[in-house]
Amino acid sequence: MTKPTLHVTTPMYYVNDIAHIGHAYTTIAGDVLCRYRRMTGYDVFYTTGTDEHGQKIAEAAEGRGMTPKQLADTVVTKFVDLWDTLNIDYQSFSRTTDVGHKASVQKEFQSMFDNGDIYLGKYSGYYCVPCESFWTDTQLGEGAVCPSCNRGVKIVEEDSYFFRLSRYQDKLLQHIKDNPSFIQPEARRNEVVSFIESGLNDLSVSRTSFDWGIHVPFDNKHVVYVWLDALSSYITALGYGTSDANFQRYWGNTIHLVGKDILRFHTIYWPAFLMSMGVELPKQVFAHGWWTVEGQKMSKSLGNAINPVELVNDFGADAVRYFLLQTMPFGNDGNFSYEVFISKINHDLSNDYGNLVNRVAQMVHKYFNSVMPHLSTKHSDARENPETYKKLFPLEHHLDELLDQTVRTVDASMDTLSFNEALKAIRAYISATNKYVDAAKPWTVATEGDMDRLGDILNRAMNASLLATRLLSPFMPETADKVFVLLGVENPLLASSEKLKLDMVSGGQKITFNTQLFPKVDAKVFLAKRGATTSTTGNATTGNADVVSTVGIDEFFKTQILAGKIMAATAVPKSSKLLQLSVDFGGAMGTAENATIVAGVKKTYAPEDLVGKTVAFAANIKPTKIMGVLSQGMILAVDNGTRHFVMELDDSVVPGTRIK
Ligand code: MSP
Repeated sequence: MTKPTLHVTTPMYYVNDIAHIGHAYTTIAGDVLCRYRRMTGYDVFYTTGTDEHGQKIAEAAEGRGMTPKQLADTVVTKFVDLWDTLNIDYQSFSRTTDVGHKASVQKEFQSMFDNGDIYLGKYSGYYCVPCESFWTDTQLGEGAVCPSCNRGVKIVEEDSYFFRLSRYQDKLLQHIKDNPSFIQPEARRNEVVSFIESGLNDLSVSRTSFDWGIHVPFDNKHVVYVWLDALSSYITALGYGTSDANFQRYWGNTIHLVGKDILRFHTIYWPAFLMSMGVELPKQVFAHGWWTVEGQKMSKSLGNAINPVELVNDFGADAVRYFLLQTMPFGNDGNFSYEVFISKINHDLSNDYGNLVNRVAQMVHKYFNSVMPHLSTKHSDARENPETYKKLFPLEHHLDELLDQTVRTVDASMDTLSFNEALKAIRAYISATNKYVDAAKPWTVATEGDMDRLGDILNRAMNASLLATRLLSPFMPETADKVFVLLGVENPLLASSEKLKLDMVSGGQKITFNTQLFPKVDAKVFLAKRGATTSTTGNATTGNADVVSTVGIDEFFKTQILAGKIMAATAVPKSSKLLQLSVDFGGAMGTAENATIVAGVKKTYAPEDLVGKTVAFAANIKPTKIMGVLSQGMILAVDNGTRHFVMELDDSVVPGTRIK
């Protein structure tokens, strides 16, 4: 029998900065959904990736004195590492700079053009670089800011190709009406419907004022609008336009998981592009809410973005995965607070779940010499008939009924992406199993010497713990694997969710469980310790972008930090951020000639401000072309978000002196 298929996607993340818990949230949610479906009989493909073109990335790279591709390569490594750390099991990590993606986007553009949906015009209006979106003056927020992110917009006037979005207005409305679950949650669907009903303008789909993107196949002056480029990743990740076996197999049964801020792109532009190309639409776009931190918006300027790597280091991947999905309904906004996080670890994971597995395992060690007991014949015979079972073993009968209900709730919750509801049901089942052990009193039965009854209780309690673990396994894969190994149990893929109810072990296997799954965290101690360290992702401009790791002194000295005297400076043509410096290192770099160094400090310094200054440079960085200029080093400077401060040295310092 062929399995039903499912394709789940995260947004393609921008590479201007490293990930925070908002990005981790969507990616974990998608992973949980995929793992659950895979476990219950689906053939699943999970796509994630990065959005690397466009003005936002070009400017971010320029500000850091890197090429956009260098910036992307650096940040992509961090995304890949993060997804490994969080145990994300994806099938495709798609980069918009991948060669196959580029070729496919060009074909898509051509196909929309051939269908008469793209025409040449002139764009004149506003553009928000952080959101990469076009706005008209009537759409701008108060103070002429971007209505989505409230930041300043640029006035843009340039030649542009337009997509005939207006042509798709009625078709889109009809599709949304005919497919009520196409946009979820419902409130978001209503928002989109009102937006479309207010009238759709044709959309600018190419830019000419910068070059960092995929070129329009028939007009090299234009690069494809970054949203058209990035949205296409959802199909190019499956090989659309290149080698499309996966596309044929998975596309259509697709769920796009996105944050509420990027709903319009996914529910209006993307379906319209697909309609124009004659490609089936995805099954659903689900817009989740946003995380705040201790009540505040997460932002670079506040420096309060929570770094998922640091959280995992402190609490483990599973606690992070559990917390993020348990705390709020998927469509709602939520708040991250360390106190709440720690209290959930202590209550839900340590007291309830960890304690259950532990106490049952300890009793198997103690009373059965670490070998899981079988059910007695009396018990298994009675279980064949629900009426008899209810009469003879009411506690266990109740547990079975509750499991049946739990599995149904979990399955239905996965259909609606109500992860928190699924976890609530599992937690209730765990709590009921703990109560079952309390009520069945195996320790009393042991003193009475009734080994059959004792074996029945521990077999049932152990199976219930294992079934809870299986239900938790998509959320907490690392913990589940650990429990299964220590209890000598396999967790095979199942044919359907119905099978989730079946006992996992009959008895006889040796167990070696002797660990605390979730040690309690002392919130006071943790918060005091944390107060003394950094806790946020920070950002590249304030410099604390990385998790702090140490380097050996030898490693450090591989970088030659030298005093250099700036002999000449000019602005790099067409760049708002770059200056070209001619720097004297007094022959320390093996040549008497001055070095050319491109520095992204133009927002603070005019060329003449720098000439004559002696400042610190990293002098042996591999030469790199930036905006057409070969840069042979890097200026050292602090950027406090508003301005730069180069590291100026006293005039008496001789050029070429090493800084140690
Ligand atoms: N590159 C585009 C997506 C293109 S998809 C074809 C983009 N990238 S992003 O990196 O800025 O954002 C990715 C996702 O992170 C978005 O879904 C956004 O909603 C989400 N989040 C950003 N901040 C968030 C929170 N504070 N909380 C939850 N999610 C948040 O947009």
